[in-house]
Amino acid sequence: MSEATYGLTRAAGTGYQSGFGNEFATEALADVLPVGRNSPQRVAKGLYAEQLSGTAFTAPRAHNRRSWLYRIRPAAVHMPFTPIANDRLVGDFSTVPTTPPNQLRWDPLPMSDAPVDFVDSLITMVGNGSAASMSGCAIHLYAATASMRDRFFYSADGELLIVPQEGRLTIATELGVIELEPFEIAVIPRGVRFTVALPDGRARGYVCENFGALLDLPDLGPIGSNGLANPRDFLTPKAAFEDREGKFELVAKFDGHLWRADIGHSPLDVVAWHGNYAPYKYDLRHFNAIGSISYDHPDPSIFLVLQSPSDTPGVHSLDFVIFPPRWLVAEDTFRPPWFHRNVASEFMGLVHGVYDAKEEGFVPGGASLHNCMSGHGPDAETFRRASSSDTTKPHKVDDTLAFMFETPRVIRPTAYALETSQLQAQYFECWQGLQKNFLAESKS
Ligand SMILES: [Fe+2]
Repeated sequence: MSEATYGLTRAAGTGYQSGFGNEFATEALADVLPVGRNSPQRVAKGLYAEQLSGTAFTAPRAHNRRSWLYRIRPAAVHMPFTPIANDRLVGDFSTVPTTPPNQLRWDPLPMSDAPVDFVDSLITMVGNGSAASMSGCAIHLYAATASMRDRFFYSADGELLIVPQEGRLTIATELGVIELEPFEIAVIPRGVRFTVALPDGRARGYVCENFGALLDLPDLGPIGSNGLANPRDFLTPKAAFEDREGKFELVAKFDGHLWRADIGHSPLDVVAWHGNYAPYKYDLRHFNAIGSISYDHPDPSIFLVLQSPSDTPGVHSLDFVIFPPRWLVAEDTFRPPWFHRNVASEFMGLVHGVYDAKEEGFVPGGASLHNCMSGHGPDAETFRRASSSDTTKPHKVDDTLAFMFETPRVIRPTAYALETSQLQAQYFECWQGLQKNFLAESKS
């Protein structure tokens, strides 16, 4: 049983399988998956078997990720790659300008009047480490006005965490189709080929390219067995394929640079697959936010959705944190995020609404960067309001979704990010209105 949608033959039924990092099994045509083996002498229907490994063969079982693909042609079939001249993407952050310790904030990336597809619109704002060292991350923005046509892309440098802010994306991958809209995220694993169509004609958002260990769900500790992002809410597409020949282009991001190759067929030709290395999406509206029911509010790690583990216990090389709608009530508590300086560095984006630490200036599609030990916190107006409100009255932070990519290493802006007119030169002023309130004789 199969059904055709978006030109691809898909597995029947709903388009997704539920769970995080499960051993999935899916076939768009019946009786293709081998039973009891991965690489039979002859695969059903004349298909080729191909293993796609996302971790070392010898990685511990709990972290080992690979999938077996049964496809019309192996991934090796394409013409040689040649480099694409590109100064928009950065893959080695030792080469960017000196990073200032200033608080930085940007307006949204403008939409082009000309048709620009998802890949061509990507521009690197900040990052650390390098693709070559398989450590760190690059944070890109996209503002696309055209669907990718007869063009396919993959990153060998890292998995892509896509956070749409405006406009839906149809992400057709080798392993199935993800329909994505703002308030959802998708993760496309390193190496998985895909193409992006824009159902709304335009789309804007954020992409974190994780050079390091694969994103994983955090442990919950004393929270218990439920809460935050629950595994069953992660959705991986069922198999979908197209048997299409023609003049197509395969674009690779490899070792920090873009490359192109002619390819005479669609690489979205995987008829069936099984394994635990696959793209997935998650609706952030399902996040079970947990917080204080007495006084103070916990550190923002309580809003952790996904993490990339490092070699140091308790330290993640990348955290993806959200600030979702939630109820607030507490005794004698300053409710917005407090003033702080962290050893970690924080890149923030806003999908929708207003972030509760900033009354203005931080707009949907915009971004901010507060680096290691750079002081930040609520602006003057937010401080004034929060210092006098009745915190025991339940208050819903509603109609908003902000997020943060947080890393233990300094996040370095690119030359583009430091020179673009999107950079808000006056950002520092939002704290200049914080008056001296100190009264030595005061009893409270
Ligand atoms: Fe912060």
